[in-house]
Amino acid sequence: MIALGCDHGGYELKQEIIKYLEEKNIPYKDFGCHSTEAVDYPIYARMVGKAIQTGECEKGILICGTGIGISIAANKMKGIRAALCTDCFCAEATREHNDANILALGGRVVGPGLAVKIVDTFLNTEFSHAERHQKRIDLIEE
Ligand code: RB5
Repeated sequence: MIALGCDHGGYELKQEIIKYLEEKNIPYKDFGCHSTEAVDYPIYARMVGKAIQTGECEKGILICGTGIGISIAANKMKGIRAALCTDCFCAEATREHNDANILALGGRVVGPGLAVKIVDTFLNTEFSHAERHQKRIDLIEE
């Protein structure tokens, strides 16, 4: 299950990502927001982060205008590794190296075509070379 969250700056891009998830039959839970009316992104970061902390969702996607505020907020939460990505290279690397559990996107930064490719890469790349990277992830947790 993929947890989705956004603020008003990410709402339109979230709708594009929902289309992609539905086409691919990927289950998701949408924590809002549900329009372009101004809201506060930390609230949505918290709901998505919590869904991952409790195990309700395996990964999350958070979107605000830049992806910056919402990823900063999510990364305050224990066990959350939110990666702001603007390209597929970073989306692949953050799964392989950081075992990122949240992808953050900027709705005012990346277009829908690129964003969907970034999502596809993020969701389909496994954490790898744990012998090298797990120790570093553990150090982050400490
Ligand atoms: C909202 O205008 C904007 O500040 C927000 O979407 C985000 O970009 C914050 O980092």
